[in-house]
This record gives sequence, C-alpha cells and structure tokens, in this order.
Amino acid sequence: MPYVDLHCHILPGLDDGARTLADAVRYARVLDAEDVLDVACTSHIKRAHFPDIDILELEGRRAELQAAIRAEGLQVTLHPGGELAHEDALALHDRELELIAQGPSHAQWLLLECPFAGLDDDFDAAVDRLTRLGYGLLLAHPERVVGGDLERLDPHLEAGALLQVNVSSLLGAHGPAAQRIGARLVQTGRAYCLASDTHPGTREEILPFGSDALRRLGVSEVQAFRLTQSNPRFLLREGNPRLALPETEERANPTR
Ligand SMILES: [Fe+2]
Repeated sequence: MPYVDLHCHILPGLDDGARTLADAVRYARVLDAEDVLDVACTSHIKRAHFPDIDILELEGRRAELQAAIRAEGLQVTLHPGGELAHEDALALHDRELELIAQGPSHAQWLLLECPFAGLDDDFDAAVDRLTRLGYGLLLAHPERVVGGDLERLDPHLEAGALLQVNVSSLLGAHGPAAQRIGARLVQTGRAYCLASDTHPGTREEILPFGSDALRRLGVSEVQAFRLTQSNPRFLLREGNPRLALPETEERANPTR
C-alpha cells in the first residue's frame, strides 16, 4: 500500500520548505521512488513568520506543481492543506480555514501546529474555536513542545483531537528530548500517525524511514502499519474519524 504523507512543505517559494519548483520536483521524484504517492501540501499558515502567503493562491500553486510532477511522469498526487499556527487559527475567516482543511467535505480536519514555546491559553482557545466550527484536529509534532507539558493536551484528545509525530523527531533531528517524547507517544499508542514534515532541501526524513524507526523502538508491525499507512490514509480519504462513518440509528438515538 503506498504511503500517505499528511504534513509536507513541498510547495515552492512560500515558506521555509522547497525553495524552487525544481527543488519540489526533485523531492517528488524521491517520494515516487519510495512509494509515497499522496502528499498534503502543508505550507506554514503563520502570518508572524510568513506574512506573504496568500491562502487564496494555494490551490493555483498546488496545480502548478502537480502539472510539473505529472510532466515528469511521476505518480505523486498533491492534496490541499496547511500547517496552521494557533495565533492564525484564532484570526482566519471561515472561508480561509476551509481552503486549508483536509479530508472530504463532510468530515474535514485541520493540521494545527503545537507551538514550540509551550501550550498555553491561546492554544486551548484555538482548539476550541476550530472544534466549534466543526473541524477535526490533527495536532502536529507535540513531541517538539519545549518542556513536554503534554498533559495539557488531554482534554483535547478526549474531545477527539489526534496526535501526529514527526519522522524527523524519531530519528533525533530535533534533539534528544523530542526523540524521547516522540518515542513514548508511539510506544504508548497516544500518537495517531506519523508524517514527514519534510522541508525539501533542508530536512527530508520520508515516511518509510519512520517505519524503520518504529521497528527499532519495538512497536508492533500492526501498530507501525497503522501509524504510517492505514491511519494517514483514513484521514485523507474518510476524514475526521468522529464524523467519517455514516450515522447509525443507535448513534443517532443513543437513549433508545
Ligand atoms: Fe511543518
């Protein structure tokens, strides 16, 4: 089964990811060779650091890169997305959020970045706002939160948010603390999926490297398959698990 990468800075010339179209196409060649055939384009939606990104332009940028990838005869398919900073999650209009949401229209979800500086009231408020708007949430790289105060995420997880651990963290690219916390999240079953969070040209830890890392951490084959294959695919195809499945009569009328 081909891999699905839900977090990748492949769109060129926008953030700190791929610099040029040629860089992005070169990386797509790597993805194609490694059987990573579905990739979400999750440029930073973080006005404080990348003020020039126009969400309304993302679709066109994606189409341009997709055409270049197809022209090379590669099978990689690009999907919408965005790595949403919590400050921006509190400020964006509904229409802008819709343009960076992932998953099918009836069960959309957003990739919300866990702030490196620590989880705070603003982050909680961002989660609350997006949840109220009906989005599922995939929380990007919680293992990279300095201090690792992840108990603060518990209420969000109980409300349905899911955790995405970076392959690069498991490989030690973000230091020993992120590596240790990432390992614990996958070993204890708290992580829902891995993603690459690749920045082509600077950081390129592809998803298949994650499968190897999980094996070294003693994660079972079944769980490694879920983390790298079936769970990301479910989010891409079916969407937010709380909304994805057709409502049964029992779920619709729980007291009957
Ligand atoms: Fe990222």
